Amino acid sequence: MATNWNIAQKNEIDFWENIYLRENKDIGSYMPITEEVAISFSTKTLQRFKIDIEALKGKSIADIGCGPYGTILGLSILLPDAILFGVDPLIETFKKFPHFSNFKSNVNLITSKGEHIPIESDKIDYVISTNVWDHVEKPVLFLQECKRISRNKRIFLSFHVVNRFIGLFKFVLPYLDKNHPHHFTKRSALKILRSEFKNVEVKRIVKMIEDQSEFTFLNIFKQKDRIRGLKRWISTFTHYSLYVECEG
Ligand SMILES: C[S@@+](CC[C@H](N)C(=O)[O-])C[C@H]1O[C@@H](n2cnc3c(N)ncnc32)[C@H](O)[C@@H]1O
Repeated sequence: MATNWNIAQKNEIDFWENIYLRENKDIGSYMPITEEVAISFSTKTLQRFKIDIEALKGKSIADIGCGPYGTILGLSILLPDAILFGVDPLIETFKKFPHFSNFKSNVNLITSKGEHIPIESDKIDYVISTNVWDHVEKPVLFLQECKRISRNKRIFLSFHVVNRFIGLFKFVLPYLDKNHPHHFTKRSALKILRSEFKNVEVKRIVKMIEDQSEFTFLNIFKQKDRIRGLKRWISTFTHYSLYVECEG
């Protein structure tokens, strides 16, 4: 259960350590992280945001809540001349993972929450954050900080949303879900984003099964933890990801 941010982050550490330290193979799509996998993740992310990689050359880019590889690892390989920042409260945990040495020297890794980013105002050309906003402690402050560091007051955000029916149970969901303190619907998310930005454009909606192809019905029986397998299968009907550009 993730009834507050600290519990969610403890579960988040457990989640990533299970994959990269204890090598629990039940989430095949997450391992191992080679340079090729990192590049493919970054390229897919840019395509979903409709960002042309050519436009990023020589620019400053911050990945807020970068995780153990995020968008920033692939970009560090693809864009040797860019100035890159990976910001995450768990950087010290991620440094223990074997693939972490793949990060190139053009990445500045910063241990910090997105609610207080130690980067000067108006410094960053591209602020990107994937699969983080529903993990943070204070979603509005997070948006304001991302906007503050952005040179043109524009951020690219992707996050999970639940469908409207599941959204009716939003007060119960933190007790069922271990890693997410927040559960937005498309409507509730856009309402918050539109209160902070003048223009909010949904660039892509991605079904859960597109990213987590192993979350099938048959997978329930392959998992040691069948309840978790069941929850993952159900999530393919109830959750999807929004890729949004916010500006102004
Ligand atoms: C599901 S992971 C996503 C990682 C990466 N962005 C990706 O797409 O693979 C969520 C990440 O959000 C980070 N996170 C949680 N709370 C945060 C906060 N307040 N500010 C910034 N990052 C946060 C977690 O530490 C974790 O690395």
